[in-house]
Amino acid sequence: MTELLSLLACPRCDRALDEIDAGHRCSGCKIDFPALAGIPWLFSEPNFARAEWRQRLDFLLRRLEYDRQQIELALTERDDLLALTRQRLASRKAALTDQSERLRALLEPLEIDTSSTSYEMYLALRTQLPPDQGLTTYYPNLHRDWCWGDEENDAALGLLAPGLEDLDVKSKVLVLGSGAGRLAYDIHNAHSPSITVALDFNPLLQLVLERVAKGETVELFEFPLAPRTLDDHAILRKHGAPAATRPGLHAVLGDALRAPFKDGAFDIVVTPWLVDILPDDFATLCRRINCLLANKGRWLNFGSLQFGHTSFDRQYSPEECAALVEAAGFTTPETEEATIPYLSSPASRHARQETVLAWQAVKNRKIKQPDRYEALPDWLVKGADPVPVLEAFRVQAATTRIHAGLMALVDGKRSLKDMAKILVNQRVMTPADAEPAVRRFLTKMYLDSQRGQRL
Ligand SMILES: C[S@@+](CC[C@H](N)C(=O)[O-])C[C@H]1O[C@@H](n2cnc3c(N)ncnc32)[C@H](O)[C@@H]1O
Repeated sequence: MTELLSLLACPRCDRALDEIDAGHRCSGCKIDFPALAGIPWLFSEPNFARAEWRQRLDFLLRRLEYDRQQIELALTERDDLLALTRQRLASRKAALTDQSERLRALLEPLEIDTSSTSYEMYLALRTQLPPDQGLTTYYPNLHRDWCWGDEENDAALGLLAPGLEDLDVKSKVLVLGSGAGRLAYDIHNAHSPSITVALDFNPLLQLVLERVAKGETVELFEFPLAPRTLDDHAILRKHGAPAATRPGLHAVLGDALRAPFKDGAFDIVVTPWLVDILPDDFATLCRRINCLLANKGRWLNFGSLQFGHTSFDRQYSPEECAALVEAAGFTTPETEEATIPYLSSPASRHARQETVLAWQAVKNRKIKQPDRYEALPDWLVKGADPVPVLEAFRVQAATTRIHAGLMALVDGKRSLKDMAKILVNQRVMTPADAEPAVRRFLTKMYLDSQRGQRL
């Protein structure tokens, strides 16, 4: 049995997995988990996850094409553009075409469906996808990890170093939410554990890790947030590791909240910039991490602890985090604060400094495993049960109907006042309300249309 296989468990039932030709199999659930260019694809609903990521790739490619067309339009229709503006637009247009081809080739293992759905349809669908989980949500991290981010990468490794000092050739390390994987690579190559598993659910980041870890170079464009010069608007970056990794570094695709590993599989679990962005309550997450660790195993965490939950009771302070870590079967966390650069691209005027909190805590007792995480109800995942009439759906349906009605009135001839009059005649609104409401709605639509979307 390979060392990785000895750590893996079914994300649906926790049984050990068997290796098959093209991935893994759970004999209990009678389900095959494929591999994506050799990377185990261990989502509990592998086909659903694949369809989701394919759809996101398709959406991304459509967005790049849409942006390219908008640039084309500006170049052909506007004869008042500065020569410099033309130069910038032409270079951006070429970069978008090139980037699409690169992404298509890199993500080819996802096997894109050629779909006839329109761009507008995808935009509408996108509102149903978690907003922070697109293929390019953490795209700048990729350039930081494998191109210009030495200072940041070294700072992250340095912050964790005290907890990694006694790793030996038998140690097993898991990096949860490993992003483009540089920290996992650095831990593995600087501290020599026997195995380091980098788990993330983003196929783009994992496919890049897989390639660069072998010593290959991956070229993708960077589109900086605040470009320093005209030439910095689109830069073709070469991504590569300092050297091919030593054996034992493995990328795994899966959900950190359904981590596909056996109970007690790891000596170290690292959670870099992760615990505050997961939808799970932090108290439950601490218990999940306890279960992944062997007795006396160590949890190393760092990040800025900006809990994004809408409910106030889950927006924990560092003091509450420490108490919850202890309550989940760990020693009192040893903490350290450090101010480190964050995503400081040399091509951008926009850069952050973050005062991060790092901690290490040792598992001192086994606790009961929390219930399996369920992100989505069955009616959504399996699609066979009736869709429930949630209050939020009812409100959304009413708003959408009004918005659709208003957009249908936009014909290039009617004025805002004409539209308001129609609403009054249809008795949808009073004369006093109609004009301000239409202006508010169209203002929002107009400003949204001007904002654009970034890679
Ligand atoms: C803030 S980024 C940090 C990335 C990386 N640790 C770093 O420091 O650059 C969070 C990462 O967690 C991943 N992620 C978020 N939720 C996840 C989940 N439920 N399962 C697996 N990965 C997840 C994202 O894809 C992203 O790569």
